[in-house]
Amino acid sequence: MTEHITVTDTGGVLEIRFDRADKKNAITSAMYTAMADALDRADADPGILAVLFHGAGDSFTAGNDLNDFLSAPRSVEESPGGRFIRTIAKARKVLIAAVHGSAVGIGTTLLLHCDLVYAGRSAKLALPFVKLGLVPEAASSLLLPRLMGYQRAAELILLGEPFDAETARDLGLVNRVVDDAELLAAARAAAASVAALPPSAVQQSKALMKASHASVDACMAEELQRFSTQLRSAEFKEAAQAFLEKRPPNFAKLRG
Ligand code: COA
Repeated sequence: MTEHITVTDTGGVLEIRFDRADKKNAITSAMYTAMADALDRADADPGILAVLFHGAGDSFTAGNDLNDFLSAPRSVEESPGGRFIRTIAKARKVLIAAVHGSAVGIGTTLLLHCDLVYAGRSAKLALPFVKLGLVPEAASSLLLPRLMGYQRAAELILLGEPFDAETARDLGLVNRVVDDAELLAAARAAAASVAALPPSAVQQSKALMKASHASVDACMAEELQRFSTQLRSAEFKEAAQAFLEKRPPNFAKLRG
């Protein structure tokens, strides 16, 4: 437990707030553990459809706490930070981020594992790993080049210069840039939209997009398998019946 992570269940959406504003929400081991625990809980709870990350004060997060890195020089694979990045990579629920102010290191690489990312105009992202004598983490050396092309990723990773919200959007890392005052509302509205969708269809679609299919044939085979399952589901029955009865669908009643 840590007072620096606040987890709130808002009914269908679990909000995780970095709550260490005086240190720009730099993330300690205890904070990684609290977040990984919350994500495990979200994945296990059929009532939770989405997880929303945001930061208190003027920052999203300044990344890993550098004191923590210095004072705990152990294998990062086994560290709470290692557990956290493995947990976000395999999360079944929809991950959403509302980014404002500084988003450094894991504050940027975390976004590669989010499904929807909203940025306030104040957002300033950076990947200063090389400048710090480190290397990229959270599979960012794979996912960044895949997302934006090698040279664009190489510039961000090798030079480590900060970039703004519009640049992040143009590079494909951010869905939408909004005024800071509207940021949380925009992200919460997206989370509420996700929470109103048929849960299994959402999770199956995310799983399909995250799978590394080797070929079109392999992708189609898995899609058709999941499609057949969804065709027999209570979710499809409710959606089709609602259409035919000219009423809005109610998927909330199908949650476990
Ligand atoms: N680890 C530990 N403490 C951090 C921190 C981090 N990653 N980032 C900020 N802090 C602390 C500062 O030491 C300072 O503490 P103090 O008030 O006790 O002196 C406080 O947070 C405020 O930071 P400050 O640098 O004064 O704020 P700023 O608005 O001028 O700059 C940042 C904000 C994020 C640009 C700057 O703090 C920064 O570059 N932080 C380091 C980012 C980093 O390298 N992260 C690791 C990536 S792997």
